[in-house]
Parts: sequence; C-alpha cells; structure tokens
Amino acid sequence: MRKTLIAGNWKLNKGPKESVKLVRSIGMGLHGVDGCEVLVCPPYVSLPAVNEIINGFPIALGAQNCADHCDGAYTGEISAEMLSEVGCKYVIVAHSERREHYQETDASFIDKINLVHAAGMRAIFCYGEKIEDRRAGRAEEIVRTQLQAVLPQLDSFTPENTVLAYEPVWAIGTGETATPEMAQDIHNLSRNLVAGMFDSNIAEATRILYGGSMKPSNAKELIACADIDGGLVGGASLDSDNFLGIIKAAL
Ligand code: 13P
Repeated sequence: MRKTLIAGNWKLNKGPKESVKLVRSIGMGLHGVDGCEVLVCPPYVSLPAVNEIINGFPIALGAQNCADHCDGAYTGEISAEMLSEVGCKYVIVAHSERREHYQETDASFIDKINLVHAAGMRAIFCYGEKIEDRRAGRAEEIVRTQLQAVLPQLDSFTPENTVLAYEPVWAIGTGETATPEMAQDIHNLSRNLVAGMFDSNIAEATRILYGGSMKPSNAKELIACADIDGGLVGGASLDSDNFLGIIKAAL
C-alpha cells in the first residue's frame, strides 16, 4: 500500500520569515488530518527556520536541489550531507526548471541521487515531456528515455529511497493540467517501466507523484487515479488554504 505524498515545491519564493509563517499556517491546518504524508521544500536559506517550526507538526522537510559533488571547490553549491544536517528528509532532483535553465544532465542527476541516498535521504526524481513532444506524439518516448537514462544507473533504487514525479512541462505554472486520463496513462507506463528495470514488487511499491498546475479543484480526480500517488505542487503550495485544500482532497 503506497502512502499518498503531497509535496510543496516553493521554488524561488519565501525567505525565512515568510517561510515560517506559511509552514505554521499549514501545520495548524493539519490538525486532525491523517493518512497522507506532507512535505514542504522551501529555498535553502529557509530550511533551518522551517525545520524548527515543523517539529510539532506532521510535516517533513525537503530541498529543491543539491550539488552533484560531496564537497570541494564548487562555489555556490550545497551538498546532500549539509541538507540532511539541517533536517531535510527529501531532495527534489531533475526538476524541468533545472534541466531547462541550468542545463543539468542525466549524469549529474545520477550523481545527485546517489549522494542524496548516501546521506540517508529520499530523492524525488522529476521527468516529463515538453509541449512539442506531446503534440508530436512523443510523450511516452521522452518519459521512457528520461527514466531509463537515470534509474538503472543508480547505486540503489528502492521504493523507500526514491519517489518519481511526472511533471509534464507544459502543465507547470500554466494553469493547464493534464487530464486524469493523460496523467494516468503516463503513470501506468512509468510503473511498467520500473517493473521492467527492477521488478514488479518494486514497481508496485514505488510512489509516483503528478505535478503541473495541481490545485484543490483538480487534485481529487488526479489522485484518485490508480497509479497517481500524490502531488508535487508549485504555485498552489504557496498559499496555506490552497495547499491544505489539496491535502484534504487527497484523503
Ligand atoms: P505548478 O504547480 O506551479 O504548476 O508547479 C508544478 C511544479 O513544478 C512542482 O515542482
């Protein structure tokens, strides 16, 4: 039985002061809410402050990225070990915004995920096609290529140490959501690919999140799909009412 995970990716929003306010408000709203794992991924500088607040709440802490090295002369980078030290349990890797704006490659995703695992955390591995791929009927091929380029190359892949997140690029921040049918098709394909790369027990236990304009009004239908195990939420995670609305829709 896969536990639903609702994760907020705050992206480049919310410094320490605003992060504390937001996470406190989410935490208060979670009173009495059970049956779903909740994760917030604030910017690096807000992690220690948020970590202090979440102590009393059923909320886990995650980072949006990490370095593909463990230490050394890499100005501006933050290692997986450091993230673990400030309380992170998850790290998002390979977000389409990292692929697009920072030219990150499959080789660096493999290194990052291995380092996240070595630091005792879980990786959330993002993948998904662009609009031109979908229009050209190549969505499945892109998803297959992105998953196969990384997952079999990892030192370890288990349902405990890795969560997958299908985020069709055309649905991110656009207000345009994949229909539940479209999303379910890709999630089902992803699970079959994981079964092929590893085995069917691993595939059955692996959580696959959907991300892309998820909001309270569409979360229920999406998460009700057989192979959708939660959401990776951007814009709607910046407002406690919206984020709580998604969590409640998922229950
Ligand atoms: P939006 O929910 O703003 O579309 O962002 C999705 C996302 O990129 C989460 O990682």
